[in-house]
Amino acid sequence: MNKRKSLLIGIAAAVAVPFALGAALQAAEPAKAPKAAEGINVGGGEQGIDGVIIPGPPITANDFMSKKHRDFPKGMTCAECHDVTFSTVDTVASATRQMARSSMQLSQEEIWAKIVEFLPGRERFALTTAIDNKPLATTVDMVLDKEEKVLYVVSEVGTEKLLQIRKNPYISAVHFAGWTLAEGGPKLWRSTQINGTAEVIPSSDPRFSVAVDKYNLVRVTKERSVRRFDLIRIQPEQIWYFDTTLGEGYAVYQLWQRGRTGVIAD
Ligand code: HEC
Repeated sequence: MNKRKSLLIGIAAAVAVPFALGAALQAAEPAKAPKAAEGINVGGGEQGIDGVIIPGPPITANDFMSKKHRDFPKGMTCAECHDVTFSTVDTVASATRQMARSSMQLSQEEIWAKIVEFLPGRERFALTTAIDNKPLATTVDMVLDKEEKVLYVVSEVGTEKLLQIRKNPYISAVHFAGWTLAEGGPKLWRSTQINGTAEVIPSSDPRFSVAVDKYNLVRVTKERSVRRFDLIRIQPEQIWYFDTTLGEGYAVYQLWQRGRTGVIAD
């Protein structure tokens, strides 16, 4: 028990009025630090830290934590303590944005550096294209061009994703790494979730040859690649970089947006 509390109890006991003791105890309790027994312990999260639910008021996806918000165990989400109304169509992005906005963001330059470090070579992605409201997810190997801030993929000519991109250039792609039930390892996760546009570059286009040479994109000889492959150039407009190792105070979700600089707060 701290000095202030025992002093207050002492005074309260001296005047010997029971309700005054209750009031004094309440007044001595700092508003921010939760009592040991406060809240409902709902057990371990991803990294083995127990979640403790202390119900808060209902909020919407556009409400963000103030600096005065009470502390809570690492790994808990807003929806565990609040009824959150997600009024926008894209609920996943909204919850992500809410988590991101409620903690610190790195600068755009720092987020980009993390993305570059996470994508050092030819990296496997799930790439999603869509036409007529029907999405198609496929796996591809992508190489990041750090200067242009674009990604390159080769694809066998005539595959469905190429047909889709020609009709609708909007794509989403994700590369992820981390703990799985099957593979074990430390319970840490990283991912890049890309939204942007894609362009199909046939082998007759001079850019095809340049990219194939520069990125060592094909596993067959270049002579064969000309007949077999089309190149896809992906331009990310935004990237959600997810990283559970960023450290205290930083949001696990960091948003990079093309053309922005510094720390963005919107
Ligand atoms: C451990 C439970 C818990 C979690 C997790 C939690 N909150 Fe809260 N929140 C509360 C409680 C309880 C209050 C009411 C004030 C108080 O008692 O501290 C509150 C108050 C608030 C308020 C109003 C006061 C303020 O600080 O701005 C907002 C807005 C809010 N929370 C948003 C969020 C968001 C956004 C997240 C997720 C990033 C979140 N909360 C996560 C428990 C939680």
